[in-house]
Amino acid sequence: MSTFRELTVGEITDNPFRLIGDDWALVTSGTEERFNTMTVSWGGVGIMWGKPVAFTFIRPQRYTFEFMENNEYFTMSFFDESQRDALKFCGSRSGRDCDKVKETGLTPAFTDEGVPYFEEARLVLVCKKMYSQFLNEESITDCESVAKWYNDDYHKMYISEIVKVLQKN
Ligand SMILES: Cc1cc2nc3c(=O)[nH]c(=O)nc-3n(C[C@H](O)[C@H](O)[C@H](O)COP(=O)(O)O)c2cc1C
Repeated sequence: MSTFRELTVGEITDNPFRLIGDDWALVTSGTEERFNTMTVSWGGVGIMWGKPVAFTFIRPQRYTFEFMENNEYFTMSFFDESQRDALKFCGSRSGRDCDKVKETGLTPAFTDEGVPYFEEARLVLVCKKMYSQFLNEESITDCESVAKWYNDDYHKMYISEIVKVLQKN
């Protein structure tokens, strides 16, 4: 298995729209002893408070949500097409009911800070939470586009500093 090298956010050449919207990512949070992972395809990357950040949106009913709430760091792992089935699995089954690592065959790895990610990833963003806030009905300005996505289960938005970027090759 090839190893990761560390790069700066400025060296990432992926198109962020394709990376998040089409490739999808696994958001993984927790400790070496206890962690969970789930698929995301909404969110973004950019600059906030002078730092490179990831914007992540997690509904409160996800098992991953409690890990996001209880841990300072999480990762976003991006894969090539060979892991599409694993991402479909992690986006349709809950870690409350199954062992996603066992079922997908993905190999957990841990950063120096002990943050979980996956060996099979081609790109990993290590994220440190800076700000989180629930979206809410009062703040919707385009009801037609937005309200249909909700049944009183508004995402919580996390703005997180991208503290490390790991890439293969
Ligand atoms: C392609 C795809 C994208 C998804 N994007 C998100 C997302 O951005 N936010 C979210 O809360 N759920 C998203 N989900 C749903 C979760 O991945 C799904 O509910 C998952 O089973 C939650 O697992 P957990 O209960 O183990 O945390 C997505 C699912 C798929 C298939």
